[in-house]
Amino acid sequence: MTDQAALASKLETGVSQLRCIACGAVGEEGAKSVRCAQCGDLLEVAFPGWKTNSGMRAAGLDAAGLKQLWLQRRTSWNALDESGVWRFREILPALHDWSHVITLREGNTPLYELPSCGRAAGVGQLFAKHQGMNPTGSFKDTGMTAAASFARQGGFRWVACASTGNTSASMAAYAARAGMRSLVLIPQGQITWGKLSQALDYGAVTCQLKTDFDGCMRVLDEVVQRMPVYLLNSVNPYRLEGQKTAAVELLERFDWQPPDHIIVPGGNLGNSSAIGKALLEMKELGLIARLPKLSVIQAEGANALVRTMRESGGKKLISVHAETMATAIKIGSPASWKKAVRVIEATGGAVEQVSEVEMALAKAEIGADGIGCEPASAVTLAGLKKLVKQGFARRNESVVLILTGNLLKDPDFTLKFHRGDLFAGTEHEEEAAEVLAPRQRAPMVLDASANAVVKVLEYAEQTDPRK
Ligand code: F0G
Repeated sequence: MTDQAALASKLETGVSQLRCIACGAVGEEGAKSVRCAQCGDLLEVAFPGWKTNSGMRAAGLDAAGLKQLWLQRRTSWNALDESGVWRFREILPALHDWSHVITLREGNTPLYELPSCGRAAGVGQLFAKHQGMNPTGSFKDTGMTAAASFARQGGFRWVACASTGNTSASMAAYAARAGMRSLVLIPQGQITWGKLSQALDYGAVTCQLKTDFDGCMRVLDEVVQRMPVYLLNSVNPYRLEGQKTAAVELLERFDWQPPDHIIVPGGNLGNSSAIGKALLEMKELGLIARLPKLSVIQAEGANALVRTMRESGGKKLISVHAETMATAIKIGSPASWKKAVRVIEATGGAVEQVSEVEMALAKAEIGADGIGCEPASAVTLAGLKKLVKQGFARRNESVVLILTGNLLKDPDFTLKFHRGDLFAGTEHEEEAAEVLAPRQRAPMVLDASANAVVKVLEYAEQTDPRK
């Protein structure tokens, strides 16, 4: 055995437990319920074997060894190593049998510089960590590989979720790969066709309920109690473990010198909780010396966390009736709000909300940098602009936006934007016409003649805003 292999096998024996975030009771591993049997609050994965003070693992693992091992795996063809989630398996809950892992080679997503968005926002170094470059086009895959693998290990035949679209697409894919059946509850008429078509193609039993996302979640809670199905929403603690790796990968990409600020969109608040958990754990393990701020941005019409922080100091959830064109984050009663509050406070981050017009403009700006994302992801850039204006984010800071979904998830939004009818008939129509017009590029219908095309080309060159 090589030194590295010996180190790896030693580390993989690390023990984790499920622990309640409110009362601290230890839950049963592999159990069906994702809630505390004592008080009903959410569970999280804890690693009691990690020594908090020395920053080293009890297993004898040092930070330098881990960094080297994880990087080395990028040259391996082993399926676990090829996954940008399981490559970091020492900091994840261990499966009894690694052959249960279901991977689509998720993670290892790119980090892009966003120069013109940086100028628009007023920060010198702006980056996007694009989780929309995952196998099913959203960040959900990193969490799903973990939770679906535990579902398979637990012998479940059925997995289920309520979703605004991305979770269902991802869950359906991973269930199909594992030979499990999947049940999807979605709010009727409120998810994009792209996401719905994914769930269908991957063979999910798909129910469109006549309610919103929060209503779907309530119905699913009851179904799960009555039927032998395993819940794969982000209240499932294993989901968040997989989603942690986006932050770990990001830190690795920065050579473990953290950026100053990470900005995440907030819906059900699983992702912000996961990224924050990773940052705190990396600090605890001594892999980073300081914590980046973690800020969460919501749509004004789905601003439960913003209101919770401002009106109750983060002590009591203030639910809202959610309304936003960013259907992915159209959520009024976020399940992981307590976890999110904890990590925002621990990292000194902020919460902010943005309008529909601000979000639409930011999405076009990200697109114009050649990256593109779905509307929910664009709230990060819109929020950053606000945080810079408020002086919370400073011009000399390095900032990373977590882009959560691929541009192709919601082509309807993009087409309406460029045709100029995204806000038609709404109270924002006038404001939108003024603010968004310079960014709109409606497709042109022309005669099939070179002359017509050349004229368009000449006009575009004369009016090029970048000249
Ligand atoms: N961005 C995208 C593209 C999403 O799909 C979601 C959530 C979020 C951001 C918010 O993340 O919920 O962890 O705070 N989508 C879920 C779904 C709810 O069902 O696909 P969160």
